[in-house]
Amino acid sequence: MPDRFYITTPIYYPSDNLHIGHSYCSVAADTLARFKKLTGHDVYFLTGLDEHGQKIAEKAAQRGKDPQSYVDGIAAATKELWRVMDVGYDDFIRTTEPRHERAVQRIYERLLATGDLYKSEYEGLYCTPCEAFWTATQAKDGLCPDCGRPVHPEKEESYFLRLSKYQDWLIEYILSNPGFIQPQTRANEMLAFLRGGLNDLCVSRTSFSWGITLPFDPKHVAYVWIDALSNYITALGYASDNDELYQRYWPASVHLVGKEIVRFHAIYWPIMLKMLDIPIPRQIFGHGWLIIDGQKMSKSLGNVIDPAALCARYGSDAVRHFLMREVPFGADGNYTHAALLTRVNADLSNDLGNLISRTTAMVAQYFGGTLPEPSAITPLEEALGARLLALPTEVEAAMDSLQFSTALAAIWRVIGECNKYIDQTTPWLLAKDPDQRGRLATVLYYLAEAARFVAALISPFMPRTPQRIYDQLGITEPELKEWDSLKSLTRRTVGHTVTKGEALFPRVDVKKELSELTAPAAPPEKPASVPDEAARQDVPAIITIDDFEKVKLVSAKVLAAEKVPKSDKLLKLTLDDGAGGRTVLSGIAQWYAPEAMVGKTVALLANLAPRKMRGMVSEGMILAASDDKGSLRLVTLDGDMPAGSVIG
Ligand code: MSP
Repeated sequence: MPDRFYITTPIYYPSDNLHIGHSYCSVAADTLARFKKLTGHDVYFLTGLDEHGQKIAEKAAQRGKDPQSYVDGIAAATKELWRVMDVGYDDFIRTTEPRHERAVQRIYERLLATGDLYKSEYEGLYCTPCEAFWTATQAKDGLCPDCGRPVHPEKEESYFLRLSKYQDWLIEYILSNPGFIQPQTRANEMLAFLRGGLNDLCVSRTSFSWGITLPFDPKHVAYVWIDALSNYITALGYASDNDELYQRYWPASVHLVGKEIVRFHAIYWPIMLKMLDIPIPRQIFGHGWLIIDGQKMSKSLGNVIDPAALCARYGSDAVRHFLMREVPFGADGNYTHAALLTRVNADLSNDLGNLISRTTAMVAQYFGGTLPEPSAITPLEEALGARLLALPTEVEAAMDSLQFSTALAAIWRVIGECNKYIDQTTPWLLAKDPDQRGRLATVLYYLAEAARFVAALISPFMPRTPQRIYDQLGITEPELKEWDSLKSLTRRTVGHTVTKGEALFPRVDVKKELSELTAPAAPPEKPASVPDEAARQDVPAIITIDDFEKVKLVSAKVLAAEKVPKSDKLLKLTLDDGAGGRTVLSGIAQWYAPEAMVGKTVALLANLAPRKMRGMVSEGMILAASDDKGSLRLVTLDGDMPAGSVIG
């Protein structure tokens, strides 16, 4: 019976269309799923959307939509993105689906029955974007320790999970199962967190209704994280009439998650499963973030990269290769267009492209397009053959520890060796000497075999390219594409019709691409009068006074101003905000000289999340009016007011 392999991605928040950071995890999961299929496992790959919670409800309201139709739109866009990126999941679960909602209700009932779920009262500091409560020590300066945005006090009658009871069990489990949380640094973080002591977890909310109602107390909805984590079993039919998939695939082989949500997966989730007497997942792997100039991608920073646009330009295989090759899985990595383009040209167009085009062109030219039978081999072929036969094991070892970039590096080392082998054997000189015909045949046969090995081994990473290689090599037999066919070199390819096809990856003009990629997107055309369409673009919705009250505007006096080195746009302002002072970086240098700023009283958005720019932290934003012709004027106060006066 084949080994079972159940792999999951986090279920993403549909708070906006997904960006390249989200696709990073999905591509990794898809690659591993494909690799496990290739190596004969019975694989199940789950992804989906986390559609409940206050944040989503607020986002929908901002767009003037009801939450369900809002998330329906994002769900359709997400599925389309995965189609474009060849993320071939087996199931896509949405937490608003009845199958999930029913099962989560059963889970709460079962937890209540164990006595580990109990009712009490909660008071704490809540971060709405993260849907998480914090203590005052955790939320230093009133800011969420995870995302840096302001938290607010919240008190409610709630249900709690008795986490504290399982703290020692989990510490023991982590210590005796070193593979459970990976990479090891994340396991250490979790152990430190656990040793700090676990508070019981508040797992119900009464302050909003966009969630799953608790069947035994309908004022309450399920805490989004319990709702969300449950997806990994509800999608398999746990607590439903048909739990065949659950019986077959649970426990999960690996949950791939970003590093900031390891805690939910490695602490809350196993404890919750333990309470339910369900086996816990075999591994939680916390990967790093793709960052842009040292910052996390976010719509408000305007640095979001759309993976679909990149796929449309360079092909999804190129984007997938970049994502898996560029950064060791587990570490953070900076995304730049230049790095992507370099990979396309160096790895794909040069290394891989050249190997295939040189091999097929030479078979076409010297053997009329029929792959010849090899004759005697030399130490060069012996060495190349040994390298090819060792490669699958090397790749498998890297994949088993989720080191995608190591696996690709190993494949590309062999591609490099093949290109070197061409230079060493100089087939174009052999072709001039009729006595060397046998030698030439051997060289081309080995190259064609190398191309076959490479095609099979890259298939989990780049699902489209292998078929293009097989087409050029004339390989139609499914068995010659399988893992087992990489255990030996085969003569079955001899006699195949080989054709030189189009270049697999045409070289890109880096300079031209960079200028086009960084050019601002054309403004969307305004629809005549379709209200729904207007809601889909970023037209601000009507807000209530409560919404406005979340914005803290105060008067602030500019004490000092200076230009930020190496920036044409930024001024660094030292402000008296009536609360101890702060630094704000403002993009006004083209309109205001530093000396003209000193002494002005400006309007400061004081509760904006701090933002890192050019190695400095900007703590807020000063307001200005700008028009579409490029003019900008600051908002100043009409007369004298002390710094820190509330505006509004
Ligand atoms: N809904 C929760 C997950 C619940 S799973 C039971 C959530 N959603 S999320 O949309 O905010 O994030 C989903 C995943 O995307 C996280 O693992 C997160 O780390 C990942 N990424 C979001 N931005 C990212 C990058 N820029 N880079 C890499 N991954 C990032 O959390």
